[in-house]
Amino acid sequence: VLFLSAMRRIDFHIKEINSVIIVGESLKNASSYIPGKKVFIITDSNIRRLYSEVFPDGVVFEIKPGEASKSLTVVEDICLKLAEEGADRSSFILGIGGGVVCDLTGLIASLFMRGVSHGFVSTSLLSQVDASVGGKTGVNAGGYKNCIGTFKLPEFVICDVSMLSTLPEEEYISGFGELVKTAAIADRSMFYEIIEKKESIMSRDIDMMEDLIYRSLLIKTAIVGRDFEEAGERKLLNFGHTFGHPIEVLTKSSHGVAVMQGMILAGLWSVKKGFLNDKHFHELKSLIENYGVSMGRKLPEGFRQLVSGDKKKTGDFIYFVFLLEPGRAEYNKIPVKEMFDFLDSIESENS
Ligand SMILES: NC(=O)c1ccc[n+]([C@@H]2O[C@H](COP(=O)([O-])OP(=O)(O)OC[C@H]3O[C@@H](n4cnc5c(N)ncnc54)[C@H](O)[C@@H]3O)[C@@H](O)[C@H]2O)c1
Repeated sequence: VLFLSAMRRIDFHIKEINSVIIVGESLKNASSYIPGKKVFIITDSNIRRLYSEVFPDGVVFEIKPGEASKSLTVVEDICLKLAEEGADRSSFILGIGGGVVCDLTGLIASLFMRGVSHGFVSTSLLSQVDASVGGKTGVNAGGYKNCIGTFKLPEFVICDVSMLSTLPEEEYISGFGELVKTAAIADRSMFYEIIEKKESIMSRDIDMMEDLIYRSLLIKTAIVGRDFEEAGERKLLNFGHTFGHPIEVLTKSSHGVAVMQGMILAGLWSVKKGFLNDKHFHELKSLIENYGVSMGRKLPEGFRQLVSGDKKKTGDFIYFVFLLEPGRAEYNKIPVKEMFDFLDSIESENS
C-alpha cells in the first residue's frame, strides 16, 4: 500500500524524557498514540461542539473557552471530577484545544495524584507553534499571568493543521504573530516566504501552514532543548514580548497582534542601537503592516508603568532581544534607564 502523508515528526528529548510532536496528524488518529490506558479528555465548549464526533473514546470534561478558565478553581474542579470518575495514576489525560486547554491540562497532569501521563491535540495556531510545546504549564492568579505552573512535557503533541480552518480570524492572526517572531529571530528564508506567500498563509493553505508550523517547531524545540530553564538562548523567544505584553494588557488586543507591535518597537530600538539597518527594519515593519497590524503613533496610556513592572524583577537591568537582520537576533543586558530614554525619544518624535 502506498501511504502518502505530509506528516512530519519531531522527537523532543529533555532530561531523559521524550516527547513526540506530529505536525499534520489528525485528531481522528489520536487514540493510536495513547498507551492503552483509561482516557480523560479536557477540552473547551467550542472544540467539543465542532469536533466531539471525532474525539477518541474517553470521559470528557469541558471548560469555558477563554483565559478565565486558567484558574486554580478550575484545576481543583477537574481534579475532583477525575477522582469521582475513577481516574488513577495509570490514567491518561488528553487536552484537546488551544493554549488555554493545553496550559491547564499540563498543570492538572502534573498535580493529579502527583502526576499522570498526558498528551495534546493542539487546535489553535498559537498553541501549535508555541503553547503546546516546551513543557510550560500554568494558570493565572488574580492579575498575575501564569503565576502558578510547572514544567511537564506531554508524551505527544498532535498539531492537526486542518482544524485551523474553523479558528476565528483574530485567533489565527494571534498565532501568526509567534510564527513571524520565530522567522525574525532564526529563519531568514521563512521570513521572506512569509512576505511572499501572504495569500496562501491567509487562506490557511494546509501544505503551506504545515511546512511553516513544522519549521518553526524545529527552531523552538532546538532552542528549548539547549536551554530548557531559560538561562540564556531561550530568552531569544521573547523577541517582541517586553513591549508586547504591556500592549496586550493595555489595549486588550490579542497576544500575537501585541507581539507584532512589540516587534516593531524592538526593531526600531535595534536601529537606534545600530544593530539593524533601515532596510531590514522596513522589511519587518511592512511585513507586519501587510498582515493588517500597525503600531500607532502613541504608546498606550500606562505603558511605561507596566514595562517598568519588569524592572522590579531584574533590578536596574533588563534582558532585551534586539534584531540584527531577518533571521538573526541577540539578547543584551541593558540598563532600564536606557530603555526609558528610547521610549522618551520615540514619544518626543511622535508628538
Ligand atoms: N505554555 C506556553 O509555553 C505558552 C506559550 C504561549 C501561549 N500560552 C498560553 O496560551 C493561551 C492562549 O492560547 P490560544 O490563543 O490558543 O487561546 P485559546 O485556547 O483560548 O483559544 C482561542 C479561542 O479559539 C478557540 N479555538 C481553538 N482552536 C479552535 C479551532 N480549531 N476551531 C475553532 N475554534 C478554536 C477556543 O475555543 C478559544 O475560544 C494563553 O493563556 C497563553 O498564556 C502558553
